[in-house]
Amino acid sequence: MPTILPALSPSEAPSGLSVEGLRSAPLPAPPSALTETDTQALRAQLAETTVMRLREPLARRTTLRVGGAAEVYLEPSSEAELGAILSFCQARSLPWMVLGRGSNLLIRESGVRGVVLCLAHPSFSQVEAVEGSLVCGAGAKLKTVAIEARRHGFSGMEFLEGIPGSLGGALRMNAGAMGSWLFEVLVKVRFMDGTGQVFQKPATEVPVEYRRCPLFRDHIALAAVLRGPPAASEAIRERMDRFRRRRWKTQPHQPSAGCIFKNPAGIAAGRLIDELGLKGCRVGGAVVSNVHANFIINDGNARAGDVLQLIEVIRAKARADRGIELETEVEIIGEP
Ligand code: EPU
Repeated sequence: MPTILPALSPSEAPSGLSVEGLRSAPLPAPPSALTETDTQALRAQLAETTVMRLREPLARRTTLRVGGAAEVYLEPSSEAELGAILSFCQARSLPWMVLGRGSNLLIRESGVRGVVLCLAHPSFSQVEAVEGSLVCGAGAKLKTVAIEARRHGFSGMEFLEGIPGSLGGALRMNAGAMGSWLFEVLVKVRFMDGTGQVFQKPATEVPVEYRRCPLFRDHIALAAVLRGPPAASEAIRERMDRFRRRRWKTQPHQPSAGCIFKNPAGIAAGRLIDELGLKGCRVGGAVVSNVHANFIINDGNARAGDVLQLIEVIRAKARADRGIELETEVEIIGEP
């Protein structure tokens, strides 16, 4: 039987962001996909050390700090167990999704039906240097990947340090910053399909687009091999410091989900929203950042609905004033 842990307290919340002022009103229960029998059957097949929580609040597992609960939250303790959970879900037609470090997510208030999987167990988050490459679990923090790359003298991964996400999330999004993209340093990737089968592909065989890797819409990244040109650790450190200073100056420090919109053709979304005069525009506790207009920040009291409404305000003005259709970059999930 797995350990069923109590919900995290704010002091245990991941990613080091302040949770002061967050509301503590009870969350609505997510609509259920699992029957009591399903839940018991699932629990019975998990290892002793596997974390399983029911109605787990997810807001504190995202950097934006809004949204409802997961019907069932699971941290599988091995690949084999992850595969067994997926087969279980498939056999019973239960929905599942993978939660990374929640840095690009907007979860609706009504929460997530079905199973939310998080690859937080150490068996998914190792980062090791092997034969001139870094072999990284999908649950590894990007900051850890960047630090290990520096320690082993691989350049090209400095930009990862400032993205508060996991490698799995970054693969799914083809995360980028400071003019670099994850797929530029990706050599190969291991992944699982919805039946629990494991595959491996060289990066050259994985189609990828700006902020999107379609393979990881319905497959789970398990691990990746990354490689960058060798460089002196000091030079890598200097680049990381430069990126950090630039980020600190040009991006807000309050809770956010990073850039809300993809850059449309011809103009950066931040510049466009700035030119539309929307900096400081507020719905409830959600505010267009005064530092970077493509960030919506949570002033401490935002609800998911506030952020969703503010997104629509911005899209409507971009459409009316400039004829531009803005597309969200942040992933919006949960029951509508
Ligand atoms: N700008 C404004 N006003 C603003 C914000 C930006 O005029 O309020 C202007 C800037 O001066 C610049 C241009 O817009 O001329 C572009 O801004 P920036 O250099 O900040 O880049 P960005 O395109 O807005 C992208 C990524 C970021 C990444 C930065 C830095 C997207 C949607 N965004 O931002 O990624 O951190 O470059 O490399 O591709 C994310 O994906 O969540 C994200 C934050």
